[in-house]
Amino acid sequence: MSEQVLLEARDLKRHYEVSLGAFKPKGTVKALDGVSFSVARGKTLAVVGESGCGKSTLAKLLTLIEQPTDGELLLDGQPVQGATKADIAKLRQKIQIIFQNPYGSLNPRQKVGAILEEPLVINTTLSKSERREKALAIMRKVGLKEEHYNRYPHMFSGGQRQRIAIARGLMMNPSLVVADEPVSALDVSVQAQVLNLMMDLQEELGLSYIFISHDLSVVEHIADEVMVMYLGRIVEKGSSETLFADPRHPYTRALLSSTPRLDPSKRIEKVKLIGELPSPLNPPSGCPFHGRCQFANDRCTTEVPPLQTLEGRLIACHGVEEGRL
Ligand SMILES: Nc1ncnc2c1ncn2[C@@H]1O[C@H](COP(=O)(O)OP(=O)(O)O)[C@@H](O)[C@H]1O
Ligand SMILES: [Mg+2]
Repeated sequence: MSEQVLLEARDLKRHYEVSLGAFKPKGTVKALDGVSFSVARGKTLAVVGESGCGKSTLAKLLTLIEQPTDGELLLDGQPVQGATKADIAKLRQKIQIIFQNPYGSLNPRQKVGAILEEPLVINTTLSKSERREKALAIMRKVGLKEEHYNRYPHMFSGGQRQRIAIARGLMMNPSLVVADEPVSALDVSVQAQVLNLMMDLQEELGLSYIFISHDLSVVEHIADEVMVMYLGRIVEKGSSETLFADPRHPYTRALLSSTPRLDPSKRIEKVKLIGELPSPLNPPSGCPFHGRCQFANDRCTTEVPPLQTLEGRLIACHGVEEGRL
C-alpha cells in the first residue's frame, strides 16, 4: 500500500444512556454502533446520512471531545485509548473540527485576530508579533484580507465566517480536519467557494479531511471515499467514483436518486424511501433499514446483514448473497 494511513477507527461505538421518565428503566441510544474505517494522509473521507444517523457523534469521537463506549481509535498507528494526558493534548492539536454554524462557534466579542491567535496563546510560546504574523498568513491563505484582522464575526457574511472558522482550524498545523456539515448553512453558490477553498488547502497543506454532510450531492467532488451511514452503522462505503456512478445499497440509491443530477447519463432509477427514520432508541430488528426498504424480504426483518465486499465496495445488504443488487 502506497497510501499512508493517518487515522484508523476499529469498531467504534458510542451509546448514550437516556432517561425515559421517572420510574421507567433507562434507555440506550446507540448513536454509533460499530464503525470501522481508515483515512489516508492527504485524502478526504465523506460521511453521509440523514440527520440522527450518528455523524456528529462520530465527529466528537474523532476529535477526542468524547470517549467511545467501545472500540479503538488510532492516529498515526498510535492508539488514543490509554494515551497519557500530555499525549492527548498533543493529538488534539493535530485534529481540528469545523462546525456547521460558524457564528455559534466564533466568540462574537473577539476580533478575528484574537480568535485566530487564541490557540497560539494557549499552546505555544510565540510572541505577540509572531502570532500576528501567523494569523495574517493563514488569513491570506483562506482568502481574507489584512483589514479583516480587527473586525468582529458579525461583520462578515456566512461564507466569510466559515473562512474564519477554517483559518482558526489551521492555526496549529493540523493533519486532520473534521468538518461537520461545513457548508450546509450556506447558499449553493457560496458552498462551492468554500468547497473549492477546502480542496485548495488540502492540496497545499496535505491535510486529511473527514467531511460530514447530510447531502450526498455536496461531497461528490471533494470526497476520495464516501461512507454512507444509517442508524449508527455503515451501509455502504467505497470510492467516490464507484458510489456516485454505481450505488448499490437501496439506501444509497434512494439518497442519490433524490438529489438532482444535471448530467442525464448520471441519473439513476428512482428508489423510494418508505416511511420515517426510526428512533435509534428503539431500532428495528434485523437490517436497521428494512422498514424503509422497498426490496426488503422476511430475512431482512430478522437477520442483521454483515458488511461485505461487492465489486470494489463494502456493503451491508442481504441482496448481495441473494443476487438482487
Ligand atoms: N448526548 C446525547 N445523549 C443522548 N442522545 C444523544 C446524544 N448525542 C446524540 N444523541 C442521539 O444520537 C443520535 C445520533 O445523533 P448525531 O450524532 O447528532 O446525528 P447526526 O449528526 O447524524 O444528525 C440521535 O438520535 C441523537 O438524538
Ligand atoms: Mg450532526
